[in-house]
Amino acid sequence: KLTVAPVLERSESSDATFITKMKNTNRNVVVFYGSQTGTAEEFATRLAKDASRYGMKGLVADPEECDMEDLAKLTDISNSLAIFCMATYGEGDPTDNAQEFHEFLTNGSVDLTGIKYAVFGLGNKTYEHYNSMGLFVDKRLEELGAERVFELGLGDDDANIEEDFVSWKEKFWPAVCSYFGVEATGENVNTRQYALTLIPEDFPKEKIFTGEVARVGSLLNQKPPYDVKNPYLAPILVNRELHKGGDRSCMHIELDITDSKIRYETGDHVAIYPVNDSEIVEKLGQRLGADLDTLFMLTNIDEDASKKHPFPCPCTYRTALTHYIDITHPPRTHVLGELAEYTDSTEDKEFLLKMTHATEEGKKLYQDWIHNDHRNILAVLEDIPSLKPPIDHLCELLPRLQPRFYSISSSPKIHPTSIHVTAILVKYTTPTQRVYKGVCTNWLATMKPGAAGEPLPRVPIYVRKSQFRLPYKPSTPVIMIGPGTGLAPFRGFIQERSYFKEEGKPVGDTILYFGCRNKSVDFIYEEELTKYVDTGLLTLHAAFSRDQEHKVYVQHLIDQNHDEIWNVLNNSGHLYICGDAKNMARDVHAMLVKILTSKGNMTTTEAEDYIKKLQSKGRYSADVWS
Ligand code: FAD
Ligand code: 2AM
Repeated sequence: KLTVAPVLERSESSDATFITKMKNTNRNVVVFYGSQTGTAEEFATRLAKDASRYGMKGLVADPEECDMEDLAKLTDISNSLAIFCMATYGEGDPTDNAQEFHEFLTNGSVDLTGIKYAVFGLGNKTYEHYNSMGLFVDKRLEELGAERVFELGLGDDDANIEEDFVSWKEKFWPAVCSYFGVEATGENVNTRQYALTLIPEDFPKEKIFTGEVARVGSLLNQKPPYDVKNPYLAPILVNRELHKGGDRSCMHIELDITDSKIRYETGDHVAIYPVNDSEIVEKLGQRLGADLDTLFMLTNIDEDASKKHPFPCPCTYRTALTHYIDITHPPRTHVLGELAEYTDSTEDKEFLLKMTHATEEGKKLYQDWIHNDHRNILAVLEDIPSLKPPIDHLCELLPRLQPRFYSISSSPKIHPTSIHVTAILVKYTTPTQRVYKGVCTNWLATMKPGAAGEPLPRVPIYVRKSQFRLPYKPSTPVIMIGPGTGLAPFRGFIQERSYFKEEGKPVGDTILYFGCRNKSVDFIYEEELTKYVDTGLLTLHAAFSRDQEHKVYVQHLIDQNHDEIWNVLNNSGHLYICGDAKNMARDVHAMLVKILTSKGNMTTTEAEDYIKKLQSKGRYSADVWS
């Protein structure tokens, strides 16, 4: 008895247990999320909110903050249900906040008999391990004895994940209702999640957020260690153009980390926290009739929610729109649904609501008018003049502005005090003839060091460790396939190999397949690469896709070099793919299968298995983004 007492005390009193929270507030649905960029978290919040429409009550929970062993205790709550919105990150990995949960499911042997669950996975078909986390959680929960109340939903961010989610949840809730024998109450779910407080102007300045990620004043008063919540304001030492002409731009940026105690390894990623374009911010302010200097604060009405505020506040509306809110991606259907409250025009209201319906007509309208036309929130407000939402509700509804990741294009062996970035400027004209400027890259384009003596421009950064690593021994041969900015991490790899060569260490074959449009325009780092070729370190195969009538891509050059690839693989070599070309990784993969079938006399299945084995041994790695 004595040994039980402290445990009981902990679970009864601690805020940390989601079971206690659920019991204390009569909730029977818990929605966990594995989220990296906020989408899974947003979906989880929407599901928890939906629950009230069906006479249920939901709690959103971050698995990182919960003792997931407690899942088994859900049986204490009648008609309880656990929903999981799980994103897959990188090369089939769990998101940072779901890593422990992933381990718990992998190694744990908890008995989940009697637990009811459903999973919605968020993934991207451009990546090889499509939705692997969602698939894993769905399968593993069943293996541990839990009962699936509705089939796994899979969202594809490469197409239209919003539509996938809405379609899934429109079928999910009726299935839940019939499972638990409850009926939809039809209760209005468009209730505000956050309460607005206007802050007086004489509020102490040092308590007002001005763009910090988590701690007020952290950008002025910088303290290591630097991480996702505490980025380092890195001075930009160099920002130069890599393209020689043409109408596109690719930037070579060098970030100074001298005084930061930041360490990185070749192959890591650097995250940059961008700010939104002030022109869009000011236009939004005007369109909403808001004074952007107003100080405000949004506080969660649900006292049990782990997220007290949607972003750091108090702050001004200008700070919120500039630093904290994503105002450039197409708004999701629930945003349109809630905005529909704020128009006097029946026609406009119907139009907006139609896009939120999971009917064929509704989905098509959303797909065409929002997705295909790339309408962001400003474009929606401009094109529906009757719409007059209050700015604070918009701040509540729109997702958080996310940091952007870049594959570090330097090696710390050569550049211990700087991090290099190779970024292509995103700029395109949308079908409604609006010019879309990528948030981070267009902001970086303005961050040029001025004349000597002037303070350097600074950007908030942190380093994220990656799995993309050179082989332990420099003598191991490597093949790197990286068209366009896919060259970035390989520039670091090559620097590192050249460092070892100069130290007199034996360095194995270092082979690069690079691809770009035209030799004379976008052959980035041509001089550097040529130098490495001249010193005998590098074998370079370059594909110029637009220098002749027919396309020549990296995989076409690989097709001409079966023996080279086969020899490297047979000599315990490592193979790497990096890049943003949409289908590049898939096409290169197919070419490898072709080589293995021809040179290794393998069937397609054997070739696929061979590649899987290479992957599991860390001899085949991809660093691809879309
Ligand atoms: P955003 O405002 O985020 O806009 C980008 C979005 O615009 C795209 O998602 C797409 O939906 C849309 N879009 C873009 N072009 C078009 C078009 N022509 N037509 C229609 N829609 C379009 N980028 C690099 O340049 N170099 C790197 O080394 C690099 N490494 C990366 C490593 C990782 C691990 C990841 C995840 C991404 C990497 N990226 C890299 C991509 C980078 O993170 C950003 O996504 C990119 O710079 C765009 O950011 P942005 O804020 O300028 O654009
Ligand atoms: P393209 O734009 O002429 O089609 C860097 O973006 C290079 O990758 C460009 O030369 C681009 O060619 C090329 N690329 C586009 N799609 C590709 C694919 N599926 N496989 C390999 N390279 C590709």
